[in-house]
Amino acid sequence: MDYTPIKKSNIDQLSVEPNLLNLQKTREAFKWEDIDRELDGLEGGGLNIAYEVLDRHVETSNKDKIALYWEGKNGETETFSFHDLSRLTNRFANVLTKLGVKKGDRVFTYMDRIPEIFICLLGALKVGGVIGPLFSAFGPDAVKDRLGDCEARVLITTPKLVPTAHEILEDLPALETIIIVNKRGRDYDLKDKEVSYEDLMKGASDEFDIEKTDKEDYAIIHYTSGTTGKPKGVVHAHQAIMGHYATAKYVLDLHPEDIYWCTADPGWVTGTSYGIFGPWSNGISQVVYEGGFGAGHWYRIIEKYKVTVWYTAPTAIRMLMKAGEKPVSKHNLTSLRYTCSVGEPLNPEAVVWGDKVVGLPFHDNWWQTETGCIQIANYPVQDIRPGSMGRPFLGVTATILDDNFEKELSPGEEGHLALKKGWPSMFRTYWNKQELYDSRFKGDWYITGDKATRDEEGYFWFVGRADDVINTGGHLVGPFEVESVLIEHPAVAEAGVIGIPDPLVMEVIKAFVSLKDGYEPSDDLIKDIKRFARKKLHALACPRKLEFLPGLPKTKSGKIMRRLLKARELGLPEGDTSTLEE
Ligand code: PRX
Repeated sequence: MDYTPIKKSNIDQLSVEPNLLNLQKTREAFKWEDIDRELDGLEGGGLNIAYEVLDRHVETSNKDKIALYWEGKNGETETFSFHDLSRLTNRFANVLTKLGVKKGDRVFTYMDRIPEIFICLLGALKVGGVIGPLFSAFGPDAVKDRLGDCEARVLITTPKLVPTAHEILEDLPALETIIIVNKRGRDYDLKDKEVSYEDLMKGASDEFDIEKTDKEDYAIIHYTSGTTGKPKGVVHAHQAIMGHYATAKYVLDLHPEDIYWCTADPGWVTGTSYGIFGPWSNGISQVVYEGGFGAGHWYRIIEKYKVTVWYTAPTAIRMLMKAGEKPVSKHNLTSLRYTCSVGEPLNPEAVVWGDKVVGLPFHDNWWQTETGCIQIANYPVQDIRPGSMGRPFLGVTATILDDNFEKELSPGEEGHLALKKGWPSMFRTYWNKQELYDSRFKGDWYITGDKATRDEEGYFWFVGRADDVINTGGHLVGPFEVESVLIEHPAVAEAGVIGIPDPLVMEVIKAFVSLKDGYEPSDDLIKDIKRFARKKLHALACPRKLEFLPGLPKTKSGKIMRRLLKARELGLPEGDTSTLEE
């Protein structure tokens, strides 16, 4: 189906004049140096993300402005001003200092979306720590792989989740302290290495001198999946705040009076870049809802908090579409003025649905954990081309390269999406994997791993991943990670994992398994293997489907040919099979 562009060039129709309006006429008008000047920096030099997102507002009329409207999964609510968060993060920074945490130490959170997650992450940045937020849905192996890889010293978690940590403690010799946040006052006896957040916070001072971090000092580590090996730690420096700030201002178009809601969890880079850093560096009030997805709940949150700018993901939008227009009609959503989406291809139908049902088309944008912030976007002042990721952000040069990563391709030609290296929020390394990091650059270009095309007007269109990485509900899953867990099951000899198309979550995970001698395929065994995987992996990374095969197709060197599994599953041509084992 051909979708006509949604005209947005008529500025009069927009309720708020876009921030970009002054800059859109000429890309040259945008300079990263100006963004640098709009941020404060530390007194006496240096840059610290926590200062830019909290403390600098305490010096202005934003001091008592609400930074966080929090609603818990049981309906409890709390609000925090910028001043509150500044003081609480100072306290937590003092707590960490007392525990001996120093600049460069890795500090991880493993919690549901409770306010303490923000206090802990930003407090840790104040001591110069490198923060690693983890999804609370991770199983023990997922936590172990991440903490172990970068030798985390501190883990902050809750009584509900700490049993997971207990299972893996022996494998984490570098982990010295576990801070238990007992927000809901459960009965819990502290164990070895454990300290109480509440007790330590009580005695801590509200004053703290932020560690003099430099723009190049490491600040954040997010683990992301690749085709081979375990997830790798994408490392960002404090300078990334320039990208978060600029894109929140110009792409999400945040204005001082906005109430903003990003539905992503801080365990995903979207939930930190745009659920913490982007909005708060701009002094914007934001809503955080601890509960999960539910069409009615989500619309209620928008209505209750009068959300104006909403940033969500295609899978969620498709689920809203599935829930139909009835729940929409029960709520007043007229506060909304601007809606955006990221994480997977956004179907043109979804863009148009938003326009029809909420009166606002979703603005798709594209980026990656590695890029730190939005790189390609549909802006408020441009026509939307439904199905396109939009155009490169100001200060970003994007192109499509040929298979040798040498020649830039012409409009309409499919190739590798690449970005000119050097933007401020570009990742600085993969933790302890410098070679892998270097391999992602060819000449001046960072190779994204995505395939795309560009049209005559400079809009980019996503084609697919260039590797085997699976995108399920906006979350990347490396097949190797899942295969490694599956073959730990006593019955499994070999496993091959692929993504198969799904109308709701883009791809679901399917595993092909061959069994060891003495085991017979059965429905019970399928259930048992799935249960086993669920205990160890993130809920999203568990195979939805599982099929037994007598043997898996392998190359002569013994590598499982996922490409062939996929072609056979989808009834596609098998392509070159010359390397297939006889
Ligand atoms: O394949 C692209 C897809 O998600 C990948 C990045 O995933 P992650 O590192 O988890 O990024 C989190 C922050 C967005 C990309 O390489 N992707 C992301 N946005 C889009 C997308 N695919 C199509 N359209 C998008 N708008």
